[in-house]
Amino acid sequence: MALDSLGRPLRDLRISVTDRCNFRCTYCMPREIFGRDFEFLRRDELLTFEEVARLARLFVQLGVEKIRLTGGEPLLRRDLERLVQMLSRIGGLQDLTLTTNGSLLTREKARALKEAGLNRITISLDSLNDEVFRAMNDVDFPVGRVLDAIEAAADAGLWPIKVDCVVKRGVNERSIVDMARHFRGSGHILRFIEYMDVGTTNGWRMADVVAGREIIDTIRREWPIEPLQPNYFGEVAERWRYVDGAGEVGVIMSVTQPFCGTCTRARLSAEGRLYLCLFASEGHDLRTRLRRDAGDEEILDAIRAVWRRRDDRYSEIRSEQTAGLPKVEMSHIGG
Ligand code: GTP
Ligand code: 5AD
Ligand code: SF4
Ligand code: SF4
Repeated sequence: MALDSLGRPLRDLRISVTDRCNFRCTYCMPREIFGRDFEFLRRDELLTFEEVARLARLFVQLGVEKIRLTGGEPLLRRDLERLVQMLSRIGGLQDLTLTTNGSLLTREKARALKEAGLNRITISLDSLNDEVFRAMNDVDFPVGRVLDAIEAAADAGLWPIKVDCVVKRGVNERSIVDMARHFRGSGHILRFIEYMDVGTTNGWRMADVVAGREIIDTIRREWPIEPLQPNYFGEVAERWRYVDGAGEVGVIMSVTQPFCGTCTRARLSAEGRLYLCLFASEGHDLRTRLRRDAGDEEILDAIRAVWRRRDDRYSEIRSEQTAGLPKVEMSHIGG
């Protein structure tokens, strides 16, 4: 098993399959930056599904148990179910999941993904208020269609479904109770995420962060809740259950309660660079090796060497100063 320099094993691999997205969420891809002139990766720069699957198999040999497909918006990548099928056949992989904005998740797509071997899915939704949500995704996308996607995913058996809601001060904090009410008792797990200083384009300020504690207190004023134990070592969400049995709700407090000490995640960008932290400025190129026909052992050695040197713990050392450092964009390596 590969341990990094802080003793953390490599357990999760998050694979971004595209850096493009059809949304322009203001906290992630502000349209002033990600406009017409923005240069996304060219098709020949993207790893093919075969290349992704080969790397994934090698990562599993190194101890990865869970793979999450991300983007940008992963469902923009045509025939994604073909990749899902290739990944689901890797022996030793215990969990295969996907994070999406739901906009392209039709009933047919949800079924195809499930049949290809996807275990579950996480869908982002920041508000139930149409006006607020349209302003946040900044492409005028309505709430109703994301709710349809959640239902389609549930009907296809991709559960438990997680619904992720980024909270930004003065923008959607008033949606917290509505969201909690809607998803209570639905069987889906709603999680509120503190707004983070990922990338360098979203103009993050500490003043815009609504602390997870405050979110929990807001919910607690409406319904009694009590804390739950993590499901597994290093789970990023703090879990709570409604005392009346209406299910669970979570908060992800990467800003106010960092979880770097148990961070077992590596991120592979769509062009085959390995990032060791969500806030890293550089990735380690794996594509060049793949394309000059390096053998498995050589690639395994390269990944092992990079992971052994890993000392990233950005969220623990975050300050107003670090927010300005060069960092990769969330849309480039996924959440
Ligand atoms: P499961 O428990 O497997 O469902 O997933 P998860 O809890 O790891 O959640 P997911 O991977 O969907 O991550 C949810 C959100 O948590 C992401 O969109 C990020 O905003 C945040 N997050 C996840 N991993 C990290 C991380 O390594 N560092 C930081 N700072 N934030 C993270
Ligand atoms: N802070 C917190 N979460 C973010 N996401 C994207 N940008 C940010 C940010 N700045 C979340 C999305 C989605 C997941 C892919 O990452 O809302 O749920
Ligand atoms: Fe797209 Fe997700 Fe970023 Fe929104 S948060 S712009 S849906 S990648
Ligand atoms: Fe892991 Fe970096 Fe997030 Fe810390 S900030 S939990 S090291 S990805």
